[in-house]
Amino acid sequence: MSDRYAEVRHDVWLHARQMWEQGLAVGSAGNVSRRADDHHIAITPTSIPYDRMRTEEIVIVDLASGEAVESVAPPSGELPMHRVVYQARPDIGALVHTHAPFITTLSVLRLPLPPIIDEMFLHLGGTIEVSDYAFTGTDAVGENALAALGQRAGVILANHGNLCVGRDLDRALHAAIVMESCARVYVQALQIAPPAPLPLSAEEAGLRMYDERRRR
Ligand code: 13P
Repeated sequence: MSDRYAEVRHDVWLHARQMWEQGLAVGSAGNVSRRADDHHIAITPTSIPYDRMRTEEIVIVDLASGEAVESVAPPSGELPMHRVVYQARPDIGALVHTHAPFITTLSVLRLPLPPIIDEMFLHLGGTIEVSDYAFTGTDAVGENALAALGQRAGVILANHGNLCVGRDLDRALHAAIVMESCARVYVQALQIAPPAPLPLSAEEAGLRMYDERRRR
């Protein structure tokens, strides 16, 4: 039987797999989604390890009702967070949620990730803030994430991990990769001394480039 969502499912599967290969997810932790069309999203299934996940198991969900359609597996337990974000932010086309070790370290300390390297302005849009805590799988995780996200490429979820956003999955995953690498540098630097802040000129130039890149 032909699957009208085959391409979209493959895109989600591929980026979920890359997230796992990059060490941003362990076992079945984390989840990935994108808009499938005006009324549906495609999201990873719940509790299936990434090395075993099959393209056909990516779940298509009706955004308004939250019901799975034309799918063989149940959706991620974090579906409420994904729905809340897509419904509030038409500019966001894809989401990557990770439990990557260094960003999760900051999340349990509830420490924001300041821009200590130029690329954080360029790719992430500035300081990555920490959302208020909410229990996994609830709408409140998404509501709190939105409140702390602003126009940046991601947010730290208190005592949980992070949520990275983008117009498409390439951008959302790239944000997750850059964020984890910067979180690692930050956590390592903190063990030696407080990192030196960047000058205001770097912030201004970097944020201009971030805005240009987002419009491309
Ligand atoms: P799922 O396997 O249901 O996507 O949940 C994993 C997770 O990351 C919870 O935050």
